[in-house]
Formats: sequence, structure tokens, C-alpha cells
Amino acid sequence: MTAELLDGRATSSTIRQEVKAEAEQLKAQHDVVPGLATVLVGGDPASKTYVSMKERQCEQAGMRAFGRHLPADISQEELLGEIEALNADPGVHGILVQLPLPDHLDEDQTLAAIDLDKDVDGFHPLNIARLTLQDVEPTFAPCMPLGCIELLDRYDVDIKGKEAVVLGPTNIVGLPTALLLLHRGAALNVCHPHTEDLAGISRRADILVAAIDEPRMVKGDWVKPGAAVIDVGWGRVKDETAEKGYRVVGNVDFDQVKEVAGHITPVPGGTGPMTIAMLLQNTLLSAKRSVGA
Ligand code: GUN
Repeated sequence: MTAELLDGRATSSTIRQEVKAEAEQLKAQHDVVPGLATVLVGGDPASKTYVSMKERQCEQAGMRAFGRHLPADISQEELLGEIEALNADPGVHGILVQLPLPDHLDEDQTLAAIDLDKDVDGFHPLNIARLTLQDVEPTFAPCMPLGCIELLDRYDVDIKGKEAVVLGPTNIVGLPTALLLLHRGAALNVCHPHTEDLAGISRRADILVAAIDEPRMVKGDWVKPGAAVIDVGWGRVKDETAEKGYRVVGNVDFDQVKEVAGHITPVPGGTGPMTIAMLLQNTLLSAKRSVGA
């Protein structure tokens, strides 16, 4: 292996300790404990797992978790009422609505109902719009994209002036990551899955972000030697040799790409753990802003 590992597990652990220390300081100096409300509608198993991880890590970082677990058949009006109540609650500094919502609920309207000052997930339409403007800051940027940038920063990977390629313009990760890279001075190429010659375009990248939802799609010969490769994919592929009969992989063929890249995120243990660390960091930031700290 020639690439240095962008270790999301270790980095997120460091960040969560930093957040915990700052949360303790905030409590001591301002008598404020950062609070995160997690809104989960219905019982989708993956969403339940994500939300319980967020709540657990929130409490481990010395913050309060307010779980709002709502029935799958809740009406739009009732859901908006829950969000209004959380907006008005001074103990809640961050509100996260776990996506996707059941089909009968309006995702845009729901996200738009969150108080901008508590939008620690960064999915409020106005915050997404602000990301598209120069010299205008969102109140919060989305967590997985922030986590990608944070990993590059913590491993001293230069962004300014470099060529970045983002494969997959997804709303939650690809597009906002692309915009954050652009704001940091990278030249940008965002590719749709149907873009011709994805391999050739990828080979130009100093920073390659794979958000294309195709297991192990990015091969060794797609990567410029020395590039930083960020994999935001997560999926299971069958593997008889693995204990569970499957293996968790990302969008990058790790075994091939690690021999070419300069830096690479593993899956699991790369961008995934960073997402929750950034959520905690955003919640702490919101609590600090609430007291002018
Ligand atoms: N569903 C998948 N990823 C996310 C995330 O980062 N935040 C929310 N709210 N829902 C998600």
C-alpha cells in the first residue's frame, strides 16, 4: 500500500473528544448543555440505527439528546407541529430530521420548517442555497461534506488551486461537497453517472470524491498517482469468505486504488464516522452561538 489512510474513525474520535472538552467548558462558563433533537419518523431499520448512533455519541460527548421518535403515519401538520415545538425549546440547539421521510410527507416543507439557527444538518433549503453563493455563509454546512473537507484538512491535503472531481451530484453529499471544495479554491468538475469517460475525467483529479452509488466502481487506473481519494459510498457485496457472507464496500476499489493514490478513505471507517463528529461539532457551535461564546 502506498497511500496514506485518511482514518475517519481515529479523526472522528479526536474531534468528539475536542467537542466534549468544549461542551464541558460551555457548561462551566455559561451553564449551557448543547442539545440535539433527532426526529425519526417510522421504523426503517437503517434510519433507526443511524439515529441511535447519533443519540449515543451525542450523550457520550456530554450533550443532551432529545429523541423524537414519531409514528410512520404522522400527518404533515403534526410533524410540523413537532418541529415548531423544538424550534421554540431553548434547550434544543440542533434539530435533525432523519431522511428519507415516508412518502406521504413533504421533505422540502419539513426541512424548511427548521429554525435556520438550529439547522445543524445543513439541509434547510436556504442553507443549501447559501452554499451556491459566493461570500455568503450557510448557518451550517451539511455534515458528511463537512467531514470530507475536515479529513483533508487534518491530513494536510491542499485544496486551494487543486483540481477536484466529484462523481455523483447527490443532494446530501456530492453536490454540497463539490460546492465546499469550490469555496476553498479548487477547480471543480462534477460528473453525473451518465457523463462520458468518467475514468478519463477522474484521472485529472488531485482530489477525487466518489459519491456515485456503485460498489467499487473507481478502479486503480481511474486515479492520478498521488491523488487524495474520498469514498462516500457504503454498500454490501456478497462474499462467501467473509464471516457474515457479505463485505461492506464503498464506491472505490480500495485494494487497487490504495496502490496509486496518495491518500484514501477506507470503507467502513472513513467518511461515515466523520459525519456524526461534524453533527456534534455543529450542535456545539449552535449552543455557543446561543450564548455569544
Ligand atoms: N439520511 C442519510 N444520511 C443522512 C444525514 O446525514 N442526515 C439526515 N438527516 N438524514 C440522512
